[in-house]
Amino acid sequence: MQLIKLDATDSTNGYLKGLLRTQNVEDFTVVVTSNQKKGRGQLGRSWITEPGKNLTISILKHFEALNISEQFILNIASSMAVYHTLKHYAIPDLQVKWPNDIMSGDKKICGILVENMVKGQGITSSVIGIGLNVNQTNFEDTLRATSMQLRLGKELDIDQVMDMLIKEMAISFENFEARSVLEAKELYIAKLFRCNMESRFMGFDKNEFRGSIRGISDSGLLLVELKNGRQKEFRHNEIRLLY
Ligand code: BTN
Repeated sequence: MQLIKLDATDSTNGYLKGLLRTQNVEDFTVVVTSNQKKGRGQLGRSWITEPGKNLTISILKHFEALNISEQFILNIASSMAVYHTLKHYAIPDLQVKWPNDIMSGDKKICGILVENMVKGQGITSSVIGIGLNVNQTNFEDTLRATSMQLRLGKELDIDQVMDMLIKEMAISFENFEARSVLEAKELYIAKLFRCNMESRFMGFDKNEFRGSIRGISDSGLLLVELKNGRQKEFRHNEIRLLY
């Protein structure tokens, strides 16, 4: 494992992808910074984090035979690694909000951005970026965010959290190579936020509707049972959970 520690960078995902463009990069190369200046989130959003307070880290994985139809397995493996890291620290009420936000209670404690390099039908490499709120205690209300410090009432050693997360990522990716997709999916669904509870959603057309999350499809789409009893599959940009 190669660990690259940067004093500051725009985005650890961006840095790792830049390296990949110019040279061979070893499997499981890790890039971390204590000052990420232009962090990127899912759906083109930005990821803002207070310098020196949180973990902003990206991990590179190479694959020999991973079909793009199986890409959701990467979200599962990385979510499970964060989940187990936080479990180790006894963070309460952990769940995974589809597709890969880690929640403590009804607040987000960690976000994950998986970016894949694709050749034909295969994923050759993946940059897995993790933004874990460790010691930040002030968040904009609208973000509905929390941190390890807020949940535990004490400051944490960010390097120790990082070591644990890297270890859990290694375990999770070994397990995922050994496990069937079905097994991995079951583990994920067992931790799915607001599964089998009636919730409010916002659709693509900005209309609100009610339904209950029932799980995920084989390709990782969200399965929601609507009020009329019909089950529908949604992509990430097609639905927003309003709780
Ligand atoms: C999200 O919830 O929207 C995903 C956030 C992912 C943030 C991490 S921080 C480390 C890595 N580098 C980035 O620019 N983004 C990811």
